[in-house]
Amino acid sequence: MKLIHDSAPCLHLLLLAELFVHSSSRTSHTSSLCSMLKLMMAQVDRLKNLSKSFHDLSDVELLNFADMEHRLHSLPHIHHTATHLSSLKVNESLSQLYVHAQAFKLHVDWLKTAKENVSLSSHSAEGAGTHLLQLSNLLNSSLHQMSEEAPLSPPPSLPVTSTAFDVLRFSVEISERLQVFCDWSKRVLRQLQRLSHCPRH
Ligand SMILES: *[C@@H]1O[C@H](CO)[C@@H](O)[C@H](O)[C@H]1NC(C)=O
Ligand SMILES: *[C@@H]1O[C@H](CO)[C@@H](O)[C@H](O)[C@H]1NC(C)=O
Ligand SMILES: *[C@@H]1O[C@H](CO)[C@@H](O)[C@H](O)[C@H]1NC(C)=O
Ligand SMILES: *[C@@H]1O[C@H](CO)[C@@H](O)[C@H](O)[C@H]1NC(C)=O
Repeated sequence: MKLIHDSAPCLHLLLLAELFVHSSSRTSHTSSLCSMLKLMMAQVDRLKNLSKSFHDLSDVELLNFADMEHRLHSLPHIHHTATHLSSLKVNESLSQLYVHAQAFKLHVDWLKTAKENVSLSSHSAEGAGTHLLQLSNLLNSSLHQMSEEAPLSPPPSLPVTSTAFDVLRFSVEISERLQVFCDWSKRVLRQLQRLSHCPRH
């Protein structure tokens, strides 16, 4: 009887301690995800800026490319509906963003070489590649924190380019698709911040 009486407060303390450990590890886990999401947002902002300067065509000149068929079938298809956004799971969205960021990285690296081959400026493609790499690394770290693996995807097979005009067409296509990806990513990241109860800055 005496034993139970003595150990009761002790048990109580133990439970309290455990509760504290649990809630503080959960808090630090969440706040670390929140800071990563914020860093991802910043990468996406820079990426969007850079993707606008893959070519220096004016809006009027761009109209000539508007009807051109899209030829890079390996570029990620982004479908975003309101229902999709509202049903997002954090782990699955991070995986999907990772797969898309990787795919765009491969296309942008390819575009950089293609531009160099025809002596077009490749600075913005190179910069975009750097931001896509940083974005992928942040996504990978976040996934690892939730004990999930970053998914691997097969490398796309990309066409051989020969003329500067060809490369320009691909620049326009990748630029447009990358901007759609950036807008979509920002919406997803904002939704993930809400789901993770991240503080508004
Ligand atoms: C994007 O570009 C605009 C204009 O060039 C600039 O004002 C803005 O600060 C840039 N944003 C980022 C995140 O680099
Ligand atoms: C995401 O997490 C949920 C539960 O938290 C789990 O059921 C699901 O399998 C996970 N999805 C992936 C792709 O790992
Ligand atoms: C760039 O040129 C090299 C050498 O001619 C060629 O092997 C490569 O396929 C070209 N890359 C692209 C993306 O066109
Ligand atoms: C992802 O992150 C883990 C742990 O930080 C690391 O071991 C792994 O090499 C990274 N993978 C990639 C593809 O960057």
